[in-house]
Amino acid sequence: MNETKRNYALEYYKSWRKYDLIVNLYQLGRDTLHRRKALMLAGLKEGDTVLDLCCGTGLSFKAIQSIIGPHGKIIAIDINENMLALAQKRAADNGWTNIEFSTAPIEQLNLSENVDFAFFALCWYDKDLSYGWLKSISRFMDKEKGRICFMDYKLPDNWLRPIIYPLLWIEIKWLGESYTIEELKWKPKEVIGSMLKDSKYKAYFFDCLVAVSGQPLDTY
Ligand SMILES: C[S@@+](CC[C@H](N)C(=O)[O-])C[C@H]1O[C@@H](n2cnc3c(N)ncnc32)[C@H](O)[C@@H]1O
Repeated sequence: MNETKRNYALEYYKSWRKYDLIVNLYQLGRDTLHRRKALMLAGLKEGDTVLDLCCGTGLSFKAIQSIIGPHGKIIAIDINENMLALAQKRAADNGWTNIEFSTAPIEQLNLSENVDFAFFALCWYDKDLSYGWLKSISRFMDKEKGRICFMDYKLPDNWLRPIIYPLLWIEIKWLGESYTIEELKWKPKEVIGSMLKDSKYKAYFFDCLVAVSGQPLDTY
């Protein structure tokens, strides 16, 4: 795929209705549990203010809320208005009043407060883009205490690989997305780890999911 022609802003404009179903199916209904695992690894704490970047339909909210509690806060960002509308509905349905929403692209984010934690769930695209995002958000994060966490899929390196490969192919086709399975053959520990300070790594769910966490670098 020619990265210069790819428009990330248009992703999920076709598939937003199917999104939650496919994510839950793929993770056998354990999605919230898996998000919580990533957040725990990264050291999210009660009362933290969390940036939920590329929040989509708000699938991370339940896991985040279960740790930060009512004194914490979520700032949820997504450029896709359809996805964000579902996230807003999810917040309203659950009575979560500690969530602010914005359709600002991460590249142009402007916050009036600092945040303790930044969460990127299922929104890995490529290193250059993610580095730019980290640069943008690091302006609002404490270099010592701020924590960043990426959680995403990868192709397992074990016996499940030939089984997962066609399943992911079907998922990607059904969602009508522009990314390919080839892009899931990445090395998250090395790639994301190199963009964070003191990084921690965990692979789980049969080696299909990863969480990488750390602190903002001084060099963004
Ligand atoms: C795969 S979804 C992930 C949604 C959610 N984090 C989850 O775990 O279910 C990726 C989301 O990233 C959003 N996105 C892509 N580029 C973005 C940008 N530059 N700024 C804000 N959101 C962006 C898309 O609109 C989409 O909703």
